[in-house]
Amino acid sequence: MQSDIRDKKDNLLTLWRRVRPFMSAHRGMYAVTIFLTLLTLGTSVAFPQMIRAVIDEGIQAGAVDRVYFWLWAMSALVIVQASAQYLRNFVLAKGSIRITTEIRAYILRQAFDQEFAFFDKKESDLLPNRLMADIGTLQNVVGTIVPEIVQGGLRLFIAGGLMIYTSPLLSVAVAMIGPTLAYGSSKISRRIRRQADPIQAAGARLTSRTRESLSGVLTVKTYDHQEKTIEEHNQLAQNLIDTARPQMKSNAFLTGYTNLLSEGAVVVAISVGAMLILSNQLTPGLLVTFILYAGLVSRGAATVSEQSAQLMSAQGSTNTLFALAERETKMPPVETPEPKECRGAIEVQSVHFSYPEGREFAAVKGVDFSIKAGEEVALVGVSGCGKSTLAKLICRLYDPDQGKICLDGHPLPEINTRWLRSKISLVPPEPVIFTTTLAENIRYGRTDATDEEVRWAAEQAQAAGFIEELPEAYETIAEDAGAQFSSGQRQRIAIARAILRRAQILILDESTAALDTRTESEVKKSLRALPHNPTLILISHRLSTIVDVERVIALDQGRIVASGPHHELLKTSHFYSELVQDQLITE
Ligand SMILES: Nc1ncnc2c1ncn2[C@@H]1O[C@H](COP(=O)(O)OP(=O)(O)OP(=O)(O)O)[C@@H](O)[C@H]1O
Ligand SMILES: [Mg+2]
Repeated sequence: MQSDIRDKKDNLLTLWRRVRPFMSAHRGMYAVTIFLTLLTLGTSVAFPQMIRAVIDEGIQAGAVDRVYFWLWAMSALVIVQASAQYLRNFVLAKGSIRITTEIRAYILRQAFDQEFAFFDKKESDLLPNRLMADIGTLQNVVGTIVPEIVQGGLRLFIAGGLMIYTSPLLSVAVAMIGPTLAYGSSKISRRIRRQADPIQAAGARLTSRTRESLSGVLTVKTYDHQEKTIEEHNQLAQNLIDTARPQMKSNAFLTGYTNLLSEGAVVVAISVGAMLILSNQLTPGLLVTFILYAGLVSRGAATVSEQSAQLMSAQGSTNTLFALAERETKMPPVETPEPKECRGAIEVQSVHFSYPEGREFAAVKGVDFSIKAGEEVALVGVSGCGKSTLAKLICRLYDPDQGKICLDGHPLPEINTRWLRSKISLVPPEPVIFTTTLAENIRYGRTDATDEEVRWAAEQAQAAGFIEELPEAYETIAEDAGAQFSSGQRQRIAIARAILRRAQILILDESTAALDTRTESEVKKSLRALPHNPTLILISHRLSTIVDVERVIALDQGRIVASGPHHELLKTSHFYSELVQDQLITE
């Protein structure tokens, strides 16, 4: 399962290949940034030269006017440098947010293209966390890490050149430290990278568990599990800390190691430099210049090594995010020509199906039935018998393992996907209400519907009454995914949404379960009177829902055991009458 999206060759080169198209679309921004970076670096390498002039031409020579001249020049340079830095950081921050927004949109699009079964899987649980956390990391990569490495590298290169130019002899003395530094830090960086994966996994476990316990606050509180939940949180957090400890140590060690060696270089420079001055081979001004350049070199080296370590640890998770987005969908959209009309006749022929996540267990085992256009059918059976699975198969959220399902005689996999989705509406047992106005929630069914049509759909779904009693009526915002509404109210909003869609096939999966029987019967009356006369499939455990339906199909363990009108089945089907007697179908 993990191997489905795990990238085999996730390295810096692959990350670069993936990010490059997004970055090169903002070439101009990077060009400006590089110009400003060079300007900043130019000013910082000019400083030591000015300081040398102050010491050697001014102080040593006793020329006060030279001292003043260079002090003014330095002040001007400080202002140029600060402005260039400000502009660079601002342009980079703005650009990197743009780039990451574009990458996020790309990943979202790719995620939505995945087949529905993909979202049953474990990785997709992580998707929202991934998207937020890893995109944050990615923003850091394009906005901070890479530009810092470039800046640090340039600083190292330019100041290094000037250091050699200032005193080749001193440079040789301090250069011995360079290779040791490079070798050591690259080894530690590699270790840091290896340590990143388990930390990321532990972090994801902690966030998804915390999110779950907050969204399930009702259950946590009613079962009085607050303490237990916090304890669990603490355990997972402790586990994260334990997992991260080796990396924390490596990170801290890397910083200490680079500092030790770079400060050591200064000590070497001063000792050797002092001897060179005493033997008149160097002026004090040049020694100061050299040390300042050495400081710039060591700062450059430290930035490069620290940011490279960051890049290494960011690389794994961001590559996985891209791999997730690049995963090939198992159900690509069908783009055949759209049929002229939809009558709404369904044929289910010898369908077998097991969920990708539960291969050993078949949820549907050889089901055959057909529903005429405009017919009304109820699917009943004990919990877990496969009703919702059949509904999802009819919507082609999954493809059967064997057998086929046809709409108006055409097998579903041959029908244009967008057209198919516009012809079948499924109201799930726990409908999703988005955090926007009620009007927009209903209009989700058909985005170009007028206010009048929205109101009409709400009336048909028996939702208009409670909505119009609200002070802001249809403009009321369903805060927090509709938490302020009762389950029955949420169900009616979802039914209104489905009615507005005018789909030729309407599947209500326990969508009236939370309504009182009178409201339910009103809803059913409106559904039957809909002008486009849709085929209706009602899934229910309630006698009141199915008693007056033209035909009831009873399922047991993924098979059809009886089919016919309710009153007939009571007489002819032992299984069905037991279902009713045992109150598995209730009043
Ligand atoms: N996403 C899934 N992954 C794996 N197995 C699943 C999944 N969804 C359902 N199943 C299994 O498939 C079988 C049929 O489930 P289904 O949801 O169709 O039952 P149902 O008849 O709708 O039950 P209920 O009346 O409780 O809603 C069950 O055994 C269930 O455990
Ligand atoms: Mg169900």
